[in-house]
Amino acid sequence: MAGLIDQIEPLKSAGLADLQNAADLAALEQAKGNWIGPHGRFTALMKQLGSLPKEEKPAAGKAINAAKAELETVLARRRSELELKAAMPSEPADFTLPGRRRVLGRLHPLTQVTEDIVRSFRKIGFAVADGPEVEDEYHCFDALNTPADHPARDTQDTFYLQNDPKSEIRGPKSLLLRTHTSSVQIRVMKKQPPPVRIIVPGRVYRRDNADATHNPTFQQVEGLYVDKGVTAADLKGTVEFVFKELMGSDVKIRFRPHYFSYTEPSFEIDFTSSLVRKMGKEWLEIAGCGMVHPQVFENVGYDPEVWTGWAFGFGIERIAMIRYGITDIRLFYENDLRFLKQF
Ligand code: DAH
Repeated sequence: MAGLIDQIEPLKSAGLADLQNAADLAALEQAKGNWIGPHGRFTALMKQLGSLPKEEKPAAGKAINAAKAELETVLARRRSELELKAAMPSEPADFTLPGRRRVLGRLHPLTQVTEDIVRSFRKIGFAVADGPEVEDEYHCFDALNTPADHPARDTQDTFYLQNDPKSEIRGPKSLLLRTHTSSVQIRVMKKQPPPVRIIVPGRVYRRDNADATHNPTFQQVEGLYVDKGVTAADLKGTVEFVFKELMGSDVKIRFRPHYFSYTEPSFEIDFTSSLVRKMGKEWLEIAGCGMVHPQVFENVGYDPEVWTGWAFGFGIERIAMIRYGITDIRLFYENDLRFLKQF
């Protein structure tokens, strides 16, 4: 078949041009198919090799292989060119522009204050305990010597989760959002024998309408210390130590008699410092506390003839508000970056 050899060169040139001119990867694949694919023109030429006279075969075969290798080289080169082009940004980039700085987050002011409180109590040997926010009435009220008909329940109305509409009285097992972290006292004492030295930071709930000083959810810290011979003097010393750590060494505290169903005697704690006087006040009420009621010890299986203890509870928002001069509790929950960025 005369002329086959002569066809190699022009076919190769046309194929090379086609591959080299492919504008994108799709066009390149197309060109590859047209020339060296199973039905390509160059492939067709190779298939004719068998029909050549014997003496012409070696030279023609060599020329065809060399041309095919050349086509494949150009195909590979063009492919990597086009792949690079596809990966490049379509808009030119200015590498001399300053980089984009990532905005660093920070801890919420309430988290910061909570961590400070925990740190202060850790210094004097208190461990952190935890309990569920969805509590039952038993742990939140009954075991804390606050039975269903107790007036103290009215001031701590909350959100109930499983309220059987057919039942006239809610049983001690019905679920609610805890009104205070005091419920964790019960859980901890039921789980371990004395001595106990814990604090419990956590979220609590009340059916309050939000205003500058109330919010339906807020944070508390509960403390509990049980051992032999624990006195109210230990309580006062501990509270004073921690408030000095938190609010500065000029803090003074005072106890006023009060009532809580789970402590006897009970006190409210007021404190004063330069911060308080700056707010135009003499004393600020900051916490509740008392000596653990013998009935509470009975309820958890501790012998009240052997063990004594104290407990306290205070709101974390209130500490943060005094510390930073914040006048509206709702700011903590609005997630307004202009507020949060200041801490
Ligand atoms: N649970 C009280 C409250 O929510 C605070 C409190 C008072 C906790 C006296 C105590 C305590 O453990 O002994 O207002």
